Amino acid sequence: MSAAVNVARVSVTEIQTPLLVVNIFQGMASPSGATLAIDQALGGLLSRLIEQREIVGTLGEITIVHNQGDRAQLAADRVAVVGLGKLEELDLEAIRVAAASAARRARDLRLGRLATIVHGAGAGGIEPELAARTVAEASLLALYSYDELKSPPDPPTVPIEEIILVERDPERAARFEAAAHAAGVVAAAVALARDLSQGPGNLVTPTYLAEQARQMAESRGVACEVWGKAELRDQGMNAILAVNSGSSEEPRFVILRYRAPADGAKTLAVVGKGITFDSGGISLKPAEHMENMKHDMSGAAAVVGFVQLAADLKLPLNVLGIFAATENLPSGSAYKPGDVFRTYNGKTIEVNNSDAEGRVILSDALAYAATQGPDAIVDLATLTGACVVALGHHASGALSNDDRLLSLLRECGEVAGEQIWPLPLSREYHKDIESTIADIKNSAGREGGASVAAAFLENFVDERPWVHLDIAGTAYTTGWVRVPPYQPPCAATGVGVRLLAEFARRWSAA
Ligand code: BES
Ligand code: MN
Ligand code: ZN
Repeated sequence: MSAAVNVARVSVTEIQTPLLVVNIFQGMASPSGATLAIDQALGGLLSRLIEQREIVGTLGEITIVHNQGDRAQLAADRVAVVGLGKLEELDLEAIRVAAASAARRARDLRLGRLATIVHGAGAGGIEPELAARTVAEASLLALYSYDELKSPPDPPTVPIEEIILVERDPERAARFEAAAHAAGVVAAAVALARDLSQGPGNLVTPTYLAEQARQMAESRGVACEVWGKAELRDQGMNAILAVNSGSSEEPRFVILRYRAPADGAKTLAVVGKGITFDSGGISLKPAEHMENMKHDMSGAAAVVGFVQLAADLKLPLNVLGIFAATENLPSGSAYKPGDVFRTYNGKTIEVNNSDAEGRVILSDALAYAATQGPDAIVDLATLTGACVVALGHHASGALSNDDRLLSLLRECGEVAGEQIWPLPLSREYHKDIESTIADIKNSAGREGGASVAAAFLENFVDERPWVHLDIAGTAYTTGWVRVPPYQPPCAATGVGVRLLAEFARRWSAA
């Protein structure tokens, strides 16, 4: 169970808690605001520690002091002073790092609860409600872990059960309550996406993924359709069937329909790649790191998480959530390089590389989404190694046929802390996938791979406003790149959920 986030309308000196988190900027000679009040209650201890340079205030630095003085002066058992870095460098990301560092420390100290001020809302000059949402969200994300498959540790861990945002001003406190609720919903949706992506391929099969989507939908009154092989055949979704042909696990095509509370809302289609394991098929991948290809359904996981969030927050837009799920495996029945298939919209594709399977299943899924008349389509897919080479692990690639949609999504990425970066999608890339035997081929080699893949996908969106997000580099963290403390190490990130949450808020109002 994840922690509850509540708001306490008391002053920082009055709050009874095992751990009170306050903050300090790097380079400030003396504390201010809430931290000053704590310093005074502690008889100037924090000021002395700053003077002695035990407290410097670098981002994420944490100093714990125990309250051994008069409880009438300060009710908290302990104080954690978290560094916010330099004032002029403060942004939402710094707030996330600070809050996440403090939450992790509280967990490591086995304290069960913590209280915190809202970083950035004072001297930082960040809009208070956004700061509150950011603090709450980052704290919850930091406390996430996937340990279903591990034996309990000895000594046992003590989960944080409650996070309290301390705010004395009643009007602000009321707004923080709404922010805390939203943060809880977002964090739960990210946790769902992480769980699905992190789960091993022998557990998270296409059938399992569809079943989880169905359970999420049923518990929230979201309409859900799940198709198997028979329906895919009836519908002419031969591309999904082709990728599935090497696998003994049944494919699944899942359609989720969340309806806005009021009529007349815009409809956003979100489409996810749901390859529950990508071996490459006949164009087999090398063995090294192949285990990470259990995450090749992270796009689908983000779709399920986002639809849950839309329903829980009763967002004012219709969401059409779609994913196609299958394994990509080699076998005597597997699809082969050179094979040609007719997709859902009638276009034929030559498969010259069975490892470029993501675009193949997305052809049917996007074409189907387009027939449902959405006002915009966003797809999420761990699509290309080329995108990882281009952007590394700190930004998802974004390719679009609509500049306005793309720039709105980019702004949302900044606010949500899920950076996206545009890559080109022009006519030349379409030339690269001309086929001698079919309408298009699915691969043109590695060069410019992210753009070539997007060009392939563009054939299936029926010229609707569309953004393709290549999340190959951002869907999971690895041992060889530093990760912020609100992301799990060497595990699924749940990327896309926070971005889509922010996008849904803004796009539905635009
Ligand atoms: N799932 C992979 C892409 C991927 C690579 C995701 C690394 C996460 C990390 C995708 O199906 C794939 O294999 N793409 C090929 C395409 C190529 C054959 C044109 C690639 O990127 O090598
Ligand atoms: Mn592949
Ligand atoms: Zn793949």
